[in-house]
Amino acid sequence: MILAVKNLNLSFEDRTGRRKILDDVSFSVEEGQIVGIVGLSGAGKTSLLRTLNLLQPVDSGEIFFDGKNIVNLKDDEIRKMRKKIGVVFQSFNLFRNRTVSQNIAFPLKIQGLTGREVKEKVEKISGELGLDHRIQAYPSQLSGGEQQRAAIARALVMDPKMILLDEPTSALDPKTTGRLLDLVVELNQKHRITFVVVTHDMDVIKRTCDKVAYLENGRLKFFGPAHEFFVKVEKNEVRDFGTPLELDRKAVEHKGKIIRVLFWGKKTHEAVMWKVARELDVSVNILYGKIEELKHGPFGAMIIGIEGEQQDLFIQRLRESVYSLEEVE
Ligand SMILES: Nc1ncnc2c1ncn2[C@@H]1O[C@H](COP(=O)(O)OP(=O)(O)OP(=O)(O)O)[C@@H](O)[C@H]1O
Ligand SMILES: [Mg+2]
Repeated sequence: MILAVKNLNLSFEDRTGRRKILDDVSFSVEEGQIVGIVGLSGAGKTSLLRTLNLLQPVDSGEIFFDGKNIVNLKDDEIRKMRKKIGVVFQSFNLFRNRTVSQNIAFPLKIQGLTGREVKEKVEKISGELGLDHRIQAYPSQLSGGEQQRAAIARALVMDPKMILLDEPTSALDPKTTGRLLDLVVELNQKHRITFVVVTHDMDVIKRTCDKVAYLENGRLKFFGPAHEFFVKVEKNEVRDFGTPLELDRKAVEHKGKIIRVLFWGKKTHEAVMWKVARELDVSVNILYGKIEELKHGPFGAMIIGIEGEQQDLFIQRLRESVYSLEEVE
């Protein structure tokens, strides 16, 4: 385990008094995982991210990073700890009057590395991130995607164990977003860097995340594997990130039973349903359906009308091989 957050509380003072921003938040992250933090605007996502390297001090609670409770560290220990955590803010925070190369070199120079060591590292990282041809440019001369990569390069150059990203794709077009997500997955796999990513973008969750943390008004309403988050969406327990399949009774004429089935993983692509239907001579009519490609496999939801004498047995048999199945009234 690289990160464990326990009973974290944070509040801010404003004109109306003290407002709770994070309310008893607990979760833990295994080394090498990518965790997405989602929630509506104002839910406390950025605040939570900022507490993870103590940019934001907390009211109470514990944060274990790399085996150590970091909440009450002294200043010099905090500096040491921060070297292991890279941060990329939504606004990138690049130094405007320094070139890309100088931006990436900045944290290394503070470390007192020699000119040659700095040069080698900067070249290696900018090559890895596809920025070699832009390292003499200033931030204002870069596209949004290039600025994003320069900010990631600056975080990477310290060989961090964990990188915190705040809304990494919000300023990018779909294609650039795709390239950035591939890069995150690649860095994660190649260097085993743990990522915590705040995002509104469900593509980020689908393509990169092992786990999802869902914040609602400062409370962690869900923390678990990404596919279980999408199960919650289908069960209408998370309303803000997609809509569950809905049966429009008026539009559907069907005499037999109607079932809602959720599939997850390899089974989504298996022809279980057709096999059982054939065996039991049940006719199957897919009324609505969708499949999402998640990092660890496909997740599917379907609303199915069935007919035939052995409907109940069909439901029983199908239930054994899908994630969940319920009858729709
Ligand atoms: N320094 C601060 N002082 C007072 N209130 C703050 C401070 N920082 C954040 N807040 C408040 O805390 C709440 C949570 O803010 P936060 O930035 O964490 O939300 P968020 O989930 O990241 O939202 P968004 O998706 O819009 O970025 C908001 O109501 C915000 O106004
Ligand atoms: Mg935010």
